[in-house]
Amino acid sequence: MTDLIQAALEGQKKAYAPYSKYEVGAAILGEDGEIYSACNVENASLGLSICAERSALFQMVAAGCHAVEACAVATVDGGAPCGACLQVMQEFARDPQKVSVTMVDAEGRQTRRSLSELLPFPFSSF
Ligand code: THU
Repeated sequence: MTDLIQAALEGQKKAYAPYSKYEVGAAILGEDGEIYSACNVENASLGLSICAERSALFQMVAAGCHAVEACAVATVDGGAPCGACLQVMQEFARDPQKVSVTMVDAEGRQTRRSLSELLPFPFSSF
């Protein structure tokens, strides 16, 4: 878990957030044992910005892994991933009750919840 949090904190250092100034780092542990980390990347056309969590999840999928085991997110205030990112995480969660999401703030305080706690009613079309 420490490695995952460290990777999220490293990702946060690379955040490109000149508009919101809200820097986010995320790290995903795939079931392949690899850690995928990323940061938020904003754009002058604000809607084109991408969250750190989705960027890390998409890296996992692009590497050929389709299952997330855990996630860590680093922000100034220990905020949880947004609903869109949680829904994308759900897509690649074998058992959402077992996927842990750890939020860490600027003081190093950690909060941990399962994906199903954070997204109790995920969308499903089938
Ligand atoms: N952001 C994330 O990276 N992850 C989230 O789950 C929520 C928000 C980013 C998007 C934007 O760059 C900034 O935080 C402020 O919304």
